[in-house]
Amino acid sequence: MLKKVRRPVNHQGKVENQPMSKLDAEKKRQLVKIQSSHDIEVHPYKITGNDLTVWSDKKEKYVYVSKAVKIKAIKRNIETKEIQIELIFWAYDKWESITISRGELTKRELKKQASKGLDVLEDFQAGEVSSFLSKQEKTLKPTNVHSGIGWDIVNGQLVYKHYKIITSPSTPSIDSTYSGDFNLKPNGDSYDFLGLILKEVRGHTPLELMLCISISALIIGMLNRTRKGNFDSLLVHIVGTSTIGKTTAAMMGVSLVGSPIPKEGLLQSYHGTKNAMAKTIVNNYGALIVFDESTMNLMDSQNQSAFIYEMSHNSDKSRLDKDSELKETQTWSTTIVSTGESSILGKANNNEGLRVRLFEFSIDNWTRDAEHSDTLKNELYKNYGHVAPKIAEKMLELGPEEIANMVESNKEYIQKLLPNSKFRDRIATKFSLMITPIELIKMTFNIELSEEKILEMLIEQELKSMTEREMAPKFHSQLKQYLIRYKRHFKHGTQEVIGHQEIWGKIETSSNETRCFILTVMFDKIVKELGYSDTKILINELKKMGVVLHEKNKNQKRKSVFSKSEMKQREETLGQAGYAEKGDYTYCITYEGNIFEDIV
Ligand SMILES: Nc1ncnc2c1ncn2[C@@H]1O[C@H](COP(=O)(O)OP(=O)(O)OP(=O)(O)O)[C@@H](O)[C@H]1O
Ligand SMILES: [Mg+2]
Repeated sequence: MLKKVRRPVNHQGKVENQPMSKLDAEKKRQLVKIQSSHDIEVHPYKITGNDLTVWSDKKEKYVYVSKAVKIKAIKRNIETKEIQIELIFWAYDKWESITISRGELTKRELKKQASKGLDVLEDFQAGEVSSFLSKQEKTLKPTNVHSGIGWDIVNGQLVYKHYKIITSPSTPSIDSTYSGDFNLKPNGDSYDFLGLILKEVRGHTPLELMLCISISALIIGMLNRTRKGNFDSLLVHIVGTSTIGKTTAAMMGVSLVGSPIPKEGLLQSYHGTKNAMAKTIVNNYGALIVFDESTMNLMDSQNQSAFIYEMSHNSDKSRLDKDSELKETQTWSTTIVSTGESSILGKANNNEGLRVRLFEFSIDNWTRDAEHSDTLKNELYKNYGHVAPKIAEKMLELGPEEIANMVESNKEYIQKLLPNSKFRDRIATKFSLMITPIELIKMTFNIELSEEKILEMLIEQELKSMTEREMAPKFHSQLKQYLIRYKRHFKHGTQEVIGHQEIWGKIETSSNETRCFILTVMFDKIVKELGYSDTKILINELKKMGVVLHEKNKNQKRKSVFSKSEMKQREETLGQAGYAEKGDYTYCITYEGNIFEDIV
């Protein structure tokens, strides 16, 4: 029987390198030489080794022009139509490579590259080099590149610009590669990435929410570009102390689109000037971008909120460039996440505009624990950039019209769940942009997220972040929960209070309205308990909302809460003996519909 010979096998299943024979080594050397050689002939020019020569009929031989220089690639930007030339040249002791605009191939402009080491100091050199490059150029085909990100109309068709360009299956494909500041090239394996989502993201609401936030960028970009909707960029500010997984969550969000590695683009840190940071979002129509503040690098909160506010507007119009000329308007339309130690809304009391554009989250833990965070980071460094192109494909298949419908119908549904305020409509829109991604994820990857829990989290965060000015709607909705919870302390219609509960008021329900008469002493108590300081201001605001039933020129309303036989209870609650013929003073707060209907 033959004995099996075990060979050392590496993890890719390849046989470990055997010592190279002398012959092999020589072959390899030659191969490397050929690959790295820049020799080329474009009559009458020739590059041999490090020199550029030209054929002389007179001398019947090639004569020296300059050190070698040639075109490595021609790139045509499909957005600006600009042609960029990548040159490679021998500078003293090494090959250098630079990218110039095609217009700079002229003799005069080429001379400027002498400062980079291009051998064109003499007039005749520049002339010959320019003529050679012009000839060589004709032998090459340009490759398409794009530098913008997200949705765009190219050759009349809607496309999503990622590392490659995603087109609708029904339109011709466009071959172009991203050439810009961000690393969008998909890395690792898309199944590994989806596996990570299933294992570490699904079931953990804050991260599910972050998934949705990331995909909202595609929706906003698409609807804006196709003029199906006019949304400002969505801003999400994540507030919280250190080591709660803020950065991890943000990395997860950007990894749907591209590299989450700091300095590779989509995950920006708060440093540099405001203008430099703003530049990073110009021409972004549908890729999440994050401005991450680390404890090491705190931006003062005034500056941070000013920056965020500017970002929320979809363009940078009024700037002058350094020659005091009006710059071309720069635009964007996407979702922007920022992280920080302090609240932006808290300091922006009078800024209603910010209020509806900015979504602030203070969630205790974005990741379950340190280990969860570390597992995610490790995997995200290896696998990224797979999800956004797939979602874009699905969105193209559905078309902008259908996407707009989805957003609209989710908005209508959400509106019914929100407390009544003048912002309800706009907040519902904002929520809808974050809920609609759930459907897209389901359609594209058949991964199901918990809509119910995400919505609950959104509403909870919204209430938390409401500013003083909006305390009335917040209070109104908190009071509703309170009344439902302490229902037993209220008389309902003619029904007596069961047992020996304290009586706090009376509730009258019909199918379209609930009237809650709350004895003034109790109302004051509830106001304090819910964390508000001033009943009077609150009632005034509630009146403006139209949810207070009151007597003329008064805030209160008299109501017979206690019957003659309940004088003892009345004394317990109000501290007053006797029976009030005309009823006791209450604040009467109303709600649409029967608030107890869903509760048994
Ligand atoms: N939920 C968590 N509970 C406890 N520790 C955590 C949690 N999430 C992350 N960490 C720890 O904090 C480290 C940093 O994680 P991450 O950068 O995501 O936090 P962060 O909230 O952004 O903090 P910072 O404010 O310092 O930037 C992780 O390596 C991990 O050790
Ligand atoms: Mg961080």
